[in-house]
Amino acid sequence: MPLATRYELPAAADFHVHLRDGAMAAAVVPTVRQGGVNVAYVMPNLVPPVTTVSQAQAYKSRLQHLDPSVTYLMTLYLHPTITPDVVREAKKAGIAGIKSYPQGLTTNSESGVTDYAAFYPVFAAMEEEGLVLNIHGECASDHKKNITIMNAEASFLPTLKEIHNRFPKLRIVLEHCTTADAVKAVEACGETVVGTITAHHLFLIVDDWAGDVFHYCKPVAKMPNDRLALLKAFVTSRGKFFLGTDSAPHDISAKKGPGNTAAGVFTQPYAVPYILTALEEAIARGDISEDQVTQELLEGFLGGWGRKFYGVEDSEEGAKKGERIVVEKKDEVVAESFKGEGGIEVVPFRKGQKTWSVSWA
Ligand code: NCD
Ligand code: ZN
Repeated sequence: MPLATRYELPAAADFHVHLRDGAMAAAVVPTVRQGGVNVAYVMPNLVPPVTTVSQAQAYKSRLQHLDPSVTYLMTLYLHPTITPDVVREAKKAGIAGIKSYPQGLTTNSESGVTDYAAFYPVFAAMEEEGLVLNIHGECASDHKKNITIMNAEASFLPTLKEIHNRFPKLRIVLEHCTTADAVKAVEACGETVVGTITAHHLFLIVDDWAGDVFHYCKPVAKMPNDRLALLKAFVTSRGKFFLGTDSAPHDISAKKGPGNTAAGVFTQPYAVPYILTALEEAIARGDISEDQVTQELLEGFLGGWGRKFYGVEDSEEGAKKGERIVVEKKDEVVAESFKGEGGIEVVPFRKGQKTWSVSWA
């Protein structure tokens, strides 16, 4: 069966988004639904990071003010001030998970983790309360140990295994998997461990970002066989892997300014369309076959499996029950940039290139 040119699907859910705050949030929050998504799992790496329940609640209401028709699932930033008591308070307040960042490794990760064992009491409380641990799974570069951004994720995987073995009932998401090794590690864990896959990592390899700041993100895209492993994990997933775009908007000045470039690829406005384009390109390369891309696979990967893992139900708050989208191949062209107040300008992934179109049914 060749790929269809039109799919009607349940609204997508994006389990890893950076919506920022202030003027940048005002510019990017309206692009969530534009991408076919009505559930957004919101990352806490603001400046300062979201480390308390009241900060998360205030942040959520700012997002709701910008677009009340999205369901925002909130997270806390794993930090020394997070104790088992904070975990229990978070659970009562409806916080969905806690995100760990390795210190200094990516955008706004200055107060991230250096020693995971120090958080074992927190993980134990999360396991008990049913909060999800979202892991940015990379080790900091350490040249004596031959660790660089290319093997930072593979080097982290023993830590994932260790946390899972100690806390087998703790639900863990290895975020934005980029390597064949990560896919294998997630698959080797029990059913409490899953992985998210971004849209851009289904397209990119190292050659694409070396020299192009708009393709640079953490974790960096790796080798062709790693991209192949992600595509295979996608089409054979059955729930072990699902969508988390890691859409990470940065102003053009932070991407192309005088200093080091900021890590992050902006994919929010075309979250679902990019996925269809990535699958098409993968089929053209012979990485996957057309008949692997079924309606059931798209429904699961783009939202069904993530909703199930997180126990997301249609609620009074946010997205309407049973919303559906139509994704069509229509020669839509990705915008050159998205602008906001104060001169903000964010360049989307694959600007000026063709992608699919999404509309609300
Ligand atoms: C993210 C950001 O900009 O907030 N950047 C990125 O490259 N993915 C942070 C993160 O998720 O690592
Ligand atoms: Zn992220």
